[in-house]
Amino acid sequence: MLLKRPQRTIRNNGACFRLHKLLHIMIKKIGFAQFEVEFGERQANFARVDALLKNTDAVDLLVLPELAFTGYEFKDRAEVDSLAERCGDGPTTDFLRRIAQKINAVVVAGYAETDGSHYYNSAMMVLPGGETHNYRKVQLFSRENDLFSPGDAAPKAYDTPAGRIGMMICFDWYFPETARLLALDGAQIIAHPSNLVLPYCQKAMYARSVENHLFTITANRVGTESRTGRTLIFTGGSQVLDPDGQVLTLAPTEGGFLGITAADISKADNKQINQYNNLLSSRRTDLYGSLLAQDS
Ligand code: ACM
Repeated sequence: MLLKRPQRTIRNNGACFRLHKLLHIMIKKIGFAQFEVEFGERQANFARVDALLKNTDAVDLLVLPELAFTGYEFKDRAEVDSLAERCGDGPTTDFLRRIAQKINAVVVAGYAETDGSHYYNSAMMVLPGGETHNYRKVQLFSRENDLFSPGDAAPKAYDTPAGRIGMMICFDWYFPETARLLALDGAQIIAHPSNLVLPYCQKAMYARSVENHLFTITANRVGTESRTGRTLIFTGGSQVLDPDGQVLTLAPTEGGFLGITAADISKADNKQINQYNNLLSSRRTDLYGSLLAQDS
């Protein structure tokens, strides 16, 4: 749906300029699938998503959890190797292409990626036509550091039929710079595949949404894994937040759940807080140099 909205002035990096294109209201159906992931059982995990989508014909954007089809707690790199895939080539890509086509959606899901001698904890974005974009988790959490290489590129936003979408993965939320980079790249929606075990993220994403004035979709998993002498409890509570921090849809802490909501994603284009403040151009970048220093 496309409706016209009046022209306005925005500021960007201190330079005030007219926004020449008209802003458009863009209603999109966006959301997530939350489910219990069975370690190493890729086909069974595909089937869980199929079951959740059984009565769904059209969605614009669907986000699935981190490491959505492999499970999370790999014992070692050999186990990662046995389940990792290349972006755009493998059973996970095939499955994501199939559901992207079925529901005519952009689909984002976490997966274990192999490339040369490296493994990455990655997210793949698959467009309805099958094209892919890839993101490699930049901030690895805990034991992930023994298993994966950290992402080698800053996150980026991509124009898609569901809007301009960026990806970050789970623990990336702890570093506000990750979401800010996506906001600076024009993301209207942050797709956030997750396997959350700490209790803070769902609340913290309120801040990520508000401070960047954009939509965030955190797709978490549920269930437990006890594969390395510790028990991980995944906290569910997947959510879609709007740029004002309103919860548009929220999953319970347990059980499978498909959460889809209609949203005007053009709301994310307005970074003006009031007549004086714009959340991007009002940044005091002249004072932020020490943010880039490694020692603190
Ligand atoms: C996490 O980053 N999976 C906690």
